[in-house]
Amino acid sequence: MSLWGQIAERLRRPQGVPWRSAGLRTESLTADEAVRSTGWVFDNKTGDVSLESFTTSGDKEVQRYLRLFGFVDGSTTNLAMVEIGSGIGRMTAGFSKRFRTVYAADVDAAFLERCRETVFHHGEPTALRTVHAADGRTLDIASGSVDFAFSYITLQHCGADDARSLVGEAMRVTKRGGLIALNFRTWTPLDAALVPLGGLVRVLWRTPKAAKYMARIRSLTRLGWQANRLSPDDVLAAIGLDLIGTQLREVTIIHSPRRRVTVSAAGVKKLAVRRVHPSHWWLVARLA
Ligand SMILES: C[S@@+](CC[C@H](N)C(=O)[O-])C[C@H]1O[C@@H](n2cnc3c(N)ncnc32)[C@H](O)[C@@H]1O
Repeated sequence: MSLWGQIAERLRRPQGVPWRSAGLRTESLTADEAVRSTGWVFDNKTGDVSLESFTTSGDKEVQRYLRLFGFVDGSTTNLAMVEIGSGIGRMTAGFSKRFRTVYAADVDAAFLERCRETVFHHGEPTALRTVHAADGRTLDIASGSVDFAFSYITLQHCGADDARSLVGEAMRVTKRGGLIALNFRTWTPLDAALVPLGGLVRVLWRTPKAAKYMARIRSLTRLGWQANRLSPDDVLAAIGLDLIGTQLREVTIIHSPRRRVTVSAAGVKKLAVRRVHPSHWWLVARLA
């Protein structure tokens, strides 16, 4: 990308700064060093981690979520899926061992290179295809080509319009009868303080010099990268309420039992699941 392109991107999507910063850092490190230095941007954990421990934790989450979404163990080996926001492959490695094809999509090209390395060491490399979502909102994948579209702790880090666009993309690339499972973050009382502070961090990130240092500081990054809060009603309205029950079946909002969730649309089920983070929720639905 040209210098002007980079500046325009930084102004348009300041929330992308920590990803590009971490992506650049991963380029000159060994795989274990990359996880130690930037792994916290994916699972928020710091300390003595290695690529192996990182993918082991991702693998457990893969197993848990696949079961939650109704996949019986061993039933996915002939299926194709897309993971939107794969990062360096923490969960992609686990998916690649269970699916015939995994499209790993991410806005950061350096992460995708690392993702290939992660899957080479800890997954099934022949299953992997990487997709650079350079514009942060579209996927270069043919319509109706996957059985499962999955996204975890990613759509909260995009601008709201990009997140809505990626929901549309998840539906577009999923076959009839396939499943989408997309994770979002919604409002918490603490957000009254966190959201304006995050906005301030993102304003500072527009200045390249400040961004370079600030994007390495975990507490500042945690404030600045939360780019949107979308409720189930926001997302269902963006999809189009007329599609619920027609193009989308078995629409379910999975949330934490510690949070009450309001869903105005008719025909949408709610399911409380203990392990879901209180500020997260999932949209799970089947393409009719
Ligand atoms: C918190 S990480 C989660 C990675 C992975 N899902 C996991 O659980 O380890 C968020 C990822 O989303 C990617 N991302 C952020 N905005 C994006 C966008 N608009 N389109 C695609 N990927 C995006 C980032 O580059 C990053 O790799």
